[in-house]
Amino acid sequence: MEIKVVAGDIAQQDVGAIVVNLFEGVTTPGGATGAVDKAMNGAISALIADGEIRGKRGELTLIHTLGSIAPKRVLVAGLGAAESFTLDGVRSAAAETARQLNGIGVESAATIVHGAGIAGLDDRASAQALAEGIVMGLYSFDKYKSNSSGGSLSEITVVEFDEGKLDALQQGVGEGRIVGEAVNFCRDMANEPANNMTPSMMAERALEVAQAHSVDLEVKERAWMAEMGMGALLGVAQGSEEPPKFIIMNYEGDPDDAANNIGLLGKGITFDSGGLDIKNAAGMLTMKGDMAGGASVIAAMQAIAQLKPTINVTVIVPATENMPSGTAQRPGDVVRAMNGKTIEIDNTDAEGRLVLADAMSYARSIGLNRLVDVATLTGAMSIALGDQCMGAFGNDDNFTQQVVNSANTVGERAWPLPMFDEYKSQYSSDIADIKNTGGRGAGSITGALIIGEFNDGAPWVHLDIAGTARARGSKGATVKGATGVPVRTLVQLVCDLAD
Ligand code: BES
Ligand code: ZN
Ligand code: MN
Repeated sequence: MEIKVVAGDIAQQDVGAIVVNLFEGVTTPGGATGAVDKAMNGAISALIADGEIRGKRGELTLIHTLGSIAPKRVLVAGLGAAESFTLDGVRSAAAETARQLNGIGVESAATIVHGAGIAGLDDRASAQALAEGIVMGLYSFDKYKSNSSGGSLSEITVVEFDEGKLDALQQGVGEGRIVGEAVNFCRDMANEPANNMTPSMMAERALEVAQAHSVDLEVKERAWMAEMGMGALLGVAQGSEEPPKFIIMNYEGDPDDAANNIGLLGKGITFDSGGLDIKNAAGMLTMKGDMAGGASVIAAMQAIAQLKPTINVTVIVPATENMPSGTAQRPGDVVRAMNGKTIEIDNTDAEGRLVLADAMSYARSIGLNRLVDVATLTGAMSIALGDQCMGAFGNDDNFTQQVVNSANTVGERAWPLPMFDEYKSQYSSDIADIKNTGGRGAGSITGALIIGEFNDGAPWVHLDIAGTARARGSKGATVKGATGVPVRTLVQLVCDLAD
């Protein structure tokens, strides 16, 4: 997909379709929509007068121009009320319109930047959201379809009347493309079936990022994990024939200040059968996606390495399958994590916190002093917040709020949950330092608290994406399947911290 930015009159573009917009309640369209309406002898205002176009959010009206202007079609996108229009609205409108045109065989289109007019959004930010929406909205995972239709749309021109805005729009489109492509890269990894996304294959994807964008990469093997004393990770990995991989990526954005750093950790369970505490068929069906947290941090790194913020970023992904076998860890086993803490395995299906325990201890051992981990950790997360919002948990309210703010900025929602000390008694063990589960009540919170046992006091936020990593249908920039959440939040956070 090519996205160009040009100055000019959208009504004169030689393309298959142009996209203009309308806010709810507007009866006489202005700006580019008004200009196109005039050029078409009032075709748009006539539809408004007839009540067919109302400007409701998500409303799409396709008009054939029949030679009245150069483009063959005009697609009018309803944006809802101007007062409540946000960058998320820009992203959604861009995605929905691109998908619509792609679905009816349009090859080239031109669009205005939604929101930069009446709604008063920032030009660069609107252009970024527009490009993100186009790139994310047109995503499909069709590599295994023998007769994949693909899609027709291959070129979108962003048209702006005011030449003075071009630089800002160009910059925004460039950044939006980088971020949107990172989201799609995450989706590609998480949609990939587990037979083609083993820990080794995940490490290969990380290698592609490292080679393309000069990021350092180390992939550590089982023997190294044993030397480091990563008994929690190895306990999970011992049931699988697939070799586990400990993936470490390093971006040096502030070489003069090593302490200006952040660690992004992601759960990399490439398939979660539950282990000996095996899941039922329905529960296991979606568990190829249990590496979505790991995929999100690798994909965020791809964007970060291109945006080049002034901060050092280390990505860590403990990658393994969780399988039942004659060598699998048993309920009741006790393992020792890298930081020395002993963990009684209460349930082999609570494996995410085990692999993250060692990733967290390792992150602290190499001097990372702010940490965010991302994990499809608990089914309880979907019960608490559904699929609209991820849970945010942490040991430092300011840092947690900052992560939540970054999520809000990019329209990937997060909500803080409490981390009261009193919950900790739920996972006390009779024979070891802790157990790996805390019972049914507050399952997402005890899962988070268990990960927190390994962070040695550093400011840390855990994002539980068990409810948000996968979408049941397509809407706006979200496409059915892996969502790529929270890649955009992570990129935003890192860029905010670098400012
Ligand atoms: N990967 C699952 C959590 C999950 C469930 C993610 C559904 C996405 C959709 C995790 O490893 C798990 O099995 N958690 C257990 C924890 C329990 C045994 C304490 C759960 O949620 O049931
Ligand atoms: Zn899992
Ligand atoms: Mn599990």
